[in-house]
Amino acid sequence: MMTSKNLNNFNLENLPIVIGISGASGTVYGLRTLEFLLQNNYRVDLVISESASKVAINELNLALSTEPVLLKEQVLSYCRISKSENLTVWSYDDIAASISSGSYKTQGMIVVPASMGTIGAIASGTSDNLLTRAADVCLKERRKLILVPREMPFSSIHLENLLKLSREGAIVAPACPGFYHSPKNLSDTVDFVVGKVLDLIGIDHELFKRWEKAKRDTLTLL
Ligand SMILES: Cc1cc2nc3c(=O)[nH]c(=O)nc-3n(C[C@H](O)[C@H](O)[C@H](O)COP(=O)(O)O)c2cc1C
Repeated sequence: MMTSKNLNNFNLENLPIVIGISGASGTVYGLRTLEFLLQNNYRVDLVISESASKVAINELNLALSTEPVLLKEQVLSYCRISKSENLTVWSYDDIAASISSGSYKTQGMIVVPASMGTIGAIASGTSDNLLTRAADVCLKERRKLILVPREMPFSSIHLENLLKLSREGAIVAPACPGFYHSPKNLSDTVDFVVGKVLDLIGIDHELFKRWEKAKRDTLTLL
């Protein structure tokens, strides 16, 4: 069996995935990604920005603590998971956290959703909070960094930052749901974006129906 390896040449299986949730609209994308990974027994290191907590209140009526033990209980409860040893939650300002160091091995990081503020900070390498530092670690260690920006429209500054990050090896996967899988409700739309992100990190899922032209043509003919 082929085992997946990254440029550091170590096996990726069983290593944690870092999830960063920043203050763009769409906290639900981040929490749904977390829920899927935990339900499927992946290990996750989670960091949530202060602005993301403000968005979570507005969009999900979810008040999040800054204290990691409480925050872990809150996100698990949101994901309807009773407890999980696979989840480690870090404080946003805990710059000494494991994910702050390249010596802590991970499969990579997903920033979902990614605000333009966070994109700008990662693009300029400021690393002045745990989320942007963890992303910077992925870039320097040549690990997967998947960025899910949400903004509309983009300014030239946003686009230049995204281009810079893409050229540096990050994958820019904007929260742009498709409609060719015939979503029936909002969860189908969220699952489309989350499913595309899982594809990019190499995780199998059935969160949306994949496009199969031949099948569609047969249905039209019937
Ligand atoms: C309800 C709400 C929605 C927001 N939506 C977006 C958004 O979609 N994209 C974005 O770039 N910023 C958005 N912002 C602004 C960011 O939260 C703000 O720029 C913040 O400083 C980002 O901080 P962070 O990158 O550390 O999370 C939103 C803010 C609020 C309160």
